[in-house]
Amino acid sequence: MENRLSKTLIGQKTDRPALWMMRQAGRYLPEYRQTREQAGNFWTLCFTPDLASEVTLQPIRRFDYDAAIIFSDILVIPKALGQKVEFAPNHGPLLEPLDWQAITHFSDWTDFEQVLAPVYEAISQTKNSLAPSKDLIGFAGSPWTIATYMIDGGKGNEFSLSRHSLTTIDNLQSLLKILTQAISLHLINQVKAGATVLQIFDSWAALVPADLREDVLFKPLRQIIATVRQSVGDIPLIYFGRGISESYAKLAQKKLGIAFGVDQHSNLIALDQSLPQDIPLQGNLDPETLVEGGEKLERAVYHILEVAKNRPFIFNLGHGILPHTPIAHVDRVCELVRQAA
Ligand code: CP3
Repeated sequence: MENRLSKTLIGQKTDRPALWMMRQAGRYLPEYRQTREQAGNFWTLCFTPDLASEVTLQPIRRFDYDAAIIFSDILVIPKALGQKVEFAPNHGPLLEPLDWQAITHFSDWTDFEQVLAPVYEAISQTKNSLAPSKDLIGFAGSPWTIATYMIDGGKGNEFSLSRHSLTTIDNLQSLLKILTQAISLHLINQVKAGATVLQIFDSWAALVPADLREDVLFKPLRQIIATVRQSVGDIPLIYFGRGISESYAKLAQKKLGIAFGVDQHSNLIALDQSLPQDIPLQGNLDPETLVEGGEKLERAVYHILEVAKNRPFIFNLGHGILPHTPIAHVDRVCELVRQAA
């Protein structure tokens, strides 16, 4: 048996590319919709270890992916820092207005860990039910991506307040500092509970102009990596900076020992050529192509497998799976990737 994901991430060869899908537990699965209904509320699902563990395992049972990702959300962090977060039906997240004073002086880390304890319990439960050949992915949002939701109270007007905060950067920096601390602690606790791989979702990285990415995105990222590895050792880590893969080559020069997630709008061939051959990449099937299926899907999968041949590679989507994705199309992708041995 091999743990294809963690092996790939430490640069070892595997029989075929590791396979999982971002947002693999979710509304495209009837069994998820059923458990979701049973829970009633999204937060109840996230914070009830039995239920969170159950939906984490559902996609593994059905598709036998190489890794489970713990069912939770990036917005558990603002919630644990005391900012109210709700999910209105068909609206996405809604956060109460940010109290900058309170948040930048936050110091009650015991409380913070107590709110998040059910996530860690869900991880240890899941770990106990998962075959040893499967990795268990713990995750967090990046400081910037979490900050965008906290500042705009949701997606707002395309995150106009967050984008404005980049022009008055001092306040933003103090928020990023607290978030860096919170995220590091949350990732460390997930590893202690049983996560074998970590992913950092930087879904809104592309809102930051190139000249500010070092300060707003990469310095906090490096600090999180250093803090986490100082505490728990050399845990494999994937950074998914959506829309900024053109910055990866420069970031890779820092020899961070991390893998990079690639979105579907990035040119995988160009990226492959610009990065050292030992750096693992993950991606980047277009979730819309997965919905569409047919010959276009087959060609897209073969294209990715072909480009990926020469480096440690994890087959994934370029962003989360869409709720209206036909299950048969997911089955087909699994089949094609498994044939790539
Ligand atoms: O299967 C998995 O990948 C694990 C669980 C997971 C969820 N959210 C569950 C979820 C993960 C890894 C996330 C990450 C997440 N959450 C991100 C980063 C990835 C990305 O998509 O860019 C972001 C930005 C969020 C914030 C968030 N949570 C939004 C914007 C929404 C609403 C939009 C939507 O898809 O409905 C959520 C809710 C959410 N998180 C759902 C799920 C399955 C849907 C809620 C439901 O089932 O009612």
